[in-house]
Amino acid sequence: MSSTLSSAAGKVILLGEHAVVYGRPAIAVPVSDLRATVEITSQSPGSGVIIVAEDIGQSYRLDEDYESDAARALQTTVRNTLQYLGISEDQALRIVVRSQIPIARGMGSGAAVATALVRALAEHYGRHLTARAVSDLVYQTEAIFHGTPSGIDNTVIAFEKPVYFVKGQRADIFWVGKPFTLLIADTGIPSKTRTAVEDVRRAWLADRPRYEALFDEIGATVESGKQAIAEGKLRELGQLMNRNHGLLRELGVSCRELETLYLAALDTGAKGAKLSGSGRGGCLIALVDEQTQDEVASALRAAGAQALIKTVVR
Ligand code: MEV
Repeated sequence: MSSTLSSAAGKVILLGEHAVVYGRPAIAVPVSDLRATVEITSQSPGSGVIIVAEDIGQSYRLDEDYESDAARALQTTVRNTLQYLGISEDQALRIVVRSQIPIARGMGSGAAVATALVRALAEHYGRHLTARAVSDLVYQTEAIFHGTPSGIDNTVIAFEKPVYFVKGQRADIFWVGKPFTLLIADTGIPSKTRTAVEDVRRAWLADRPRYEALFDEIGATVESGKQAIAEGKLRELGQLMNRNHGLLRELGVSCRELETLYLAALDTGAKGAKLSGSGRGGCLIALVDEQTQDEVASALRAAGAQALIKTVVR
């Protein structure tokens, strides 16, 4: 039986979430150490397509209806990919999905699973898809299950490079002047992207001038952040992250647990910190260096981080 294995990285948004939905730029980076993998094995003819979500101990057939979003997201990705490849759904495949990326923490777990799935199917049928094509296919699933996504998750994960992203434009893969280290601290609270994005939209509809001004300010931190990263000015990048966090707090997407982690990181010498992703839970990211990383990590744990992930952006 032939078998193929493909994978995709997690991600964090470094600067610009929420405002990115309103046309401002954002910067996201891959977290390559945490991955989703998909293994596809041919089965004997007539057995259909079975998708095994190993982490949650569930199996789904492609030709059955399910209530759960997880099942329908996997089915949608498989269907759209087969259609894109010009292959009928009448296949005999066992598709096993596994992921190390925590779910609903702003780390792109859904987009990473979908990306690994698209890549595995393309490989299984001996086809090459460009990163752009993979990203577009994954966006179709994201759009069904996450409201009005900007497209940043599928883009950074498909390219697996730091990206400067503006909705509706070609992703710009940009230069990192000096590698830098992020500590990603998990609040342990699932972040509901759809609700957070909807709440921000409601607030924006009620007071457009105020929210447009906040989005502009967030956009400005992203522009300055891109330059700071290219020039290796990490102290400046840290300050921009702090500024961005303050603006996200004003948008109403922080929470007590994120604020506790934020203060713990800054008190112990992080160059900067901010919530990452849709907020109200999910993760806080802290910019650290060799000298401070251990102390910041201990402080984040003591302040309630349920898990800590270190990643180097280069
Ligand atoms: C969620 O990871 C990031 C948001 O900006 C939503 C989006 O970009 O689609 C909150």
